[in-house]
Amino acid sequence: MSDTPTGRPHWGTRMGFILAATGSAVGLGNIWKFPYITGENGGGYFVLIYLACVLLVGLPIMIAEVMMGRASRQSPVGAFLHFRGRDTLWSGVGWLGVAAGFVILSYYSVVAGWSMNYILLSLTDHLQTLDADGISDVFTTLHAAGDINLFWHFLFMATVIGVVIGGVQKGIERTCNVLMPLLFVLVVLLVCYSIFLPGGGFLKALNFIFVPHAELLSKRSVLEALGHAFFTLSLGMGAMLTYGSYMQNRRDVVYNSLWVAGMDTVIALLACMMIYPAVFAFGQEAQAGPGLVFKTLPILFAQMPGGLILSLLFFLLLTFAALSSAISLQEVVTATVIDRLGWERRRATMITGSAIFLFGVPSALSGSGELFGSWTRIFGANFFDTMDYLASNWMLPLGGLLIAIFVGWVMKDKDRRDAFGADEHPAVYYILFKILVKIVAPISVLIVLLHKIGLIHI
Ligand code: TRP
Repeated sequence: MSDTPTGRPHWGTRMGFILAATGSAVGLGNIWKFPYITGENGGGYFVLIYLACVLLVGLPIMIAEVMMGRASRQSPVGAFLHFRGRDTLWSGVGWLGVAAGFVILSYYSVVAGWSMNYILLSLTDHLQTLDADGISDVFTTLHAAGDINLFWHFLFMATVIGVVIGGVQKGIERTCNVLMPLLFVLVVLLVCYSIFLPGGGFLKALNFIFVPHAELLSKRSVLEALGHAFFTLSLGMGAMLTYGSYMQNRRDVVYNSLWVAGMDTVIALLACMMIYPAVFAFGQEAQAGPGLVFKTLPILFAQMPGGLILSLLFFLLLTFAALSSAISLQEVVTATVIDRLGWERRRATMITGSAIFLFGVPSALSGSGELFGSWTRIFGANFFDTMDYLASNWMLPLGGLLIAIFVGWVMKDKDRRDAFGADEHPAVYYILFKILVKIVAPISVLIVLLHKIGLIHI
């Protein structure tokens, strides 16, 4: 049975939470975005700064979310209600999170669609017959093909809806129990292959990732690293909070959060270690930007021995990672509708999932620019970029800041101690947590936000 006496579903095992939450965290952010922003920011130092952001800002906010969920057994809106005892403006933070989930999933699904398209391409030898320019054009053509993007967007959202309708244990947990180990094996396999690439590519990659170089580092790198820490750990919109609400044992809050943040970081570093050796072995640039995975890598796969199968494995991996993340985004919206409106899971998921699909249509058509041409452009950027910008640059950091302030300053100390499980850990854990969640995390995020509004210059 998946129901508690109160009717709330819960994870079947402790691993259930860890795998599902790691599934949420490990996604396009790790395998697509982290490697290219590491490249753009010059490697070494950026990685160090990013690790510091994860540890000092990401981890405390993750614990804050998981403990709010576990103690209240509610999705984001209800969790704020629970701790305040009534409806206050804080419930709005919950709604902001739900809105962020809605927005992120709508364009995330489009990128996942590109990955699925490359699975299909890897099954034919079309890419192998083209030269480098030809391969890069394949992506340009795909990006501009509205109908193909719509097709994959639809298929991906349908899959996400199918999993989430299955429920916490039978849908999400079961899917992540399969996807996550598979994903891990694929990453390790691909890294092992990279070790044996010619031209010392692997060593060059290690040097690039782990040895600090300052050339391309700028002050903006710090802002980017912090923003990315939020996105990659799925923070700031109640995804971890919602998954935490299906967790039973209070003792697990801190350790599970450590596991999830740790695995997410390891996979992000491994992703660099599988991509950069090939980039260097074949004399490509590390600063390829967003096209790194969809343009540069396919060019490399076409030159490598066994490239077709590698390409297939890689894009399967990317799609799995995207799916387990997308599930968590949908679950926040579904759980909120179930908890607040009392709808049944199936109806809640079908209706909100379809709405997200529709909202993502202009993103899917963004590259084509023909249909919807003018109204998909807002502030001069296309709909896809605008949504990504709004969510990752504003909604998530703002949500994270407010969650840190809530847990750090608004929640009663007794509730906070209880939710954290302070009595079950060495005293220093709780003290450290309080310092980070009250001071370090909010101040860091505030600096980033103030800088974005232009109120401070660094
Ligand atoms: N963390 C995922 C990634 O790295 C994306 C994601 C899933 C997410 N759920 C989230 C981001 C919730 C922010 C909030 O790709």
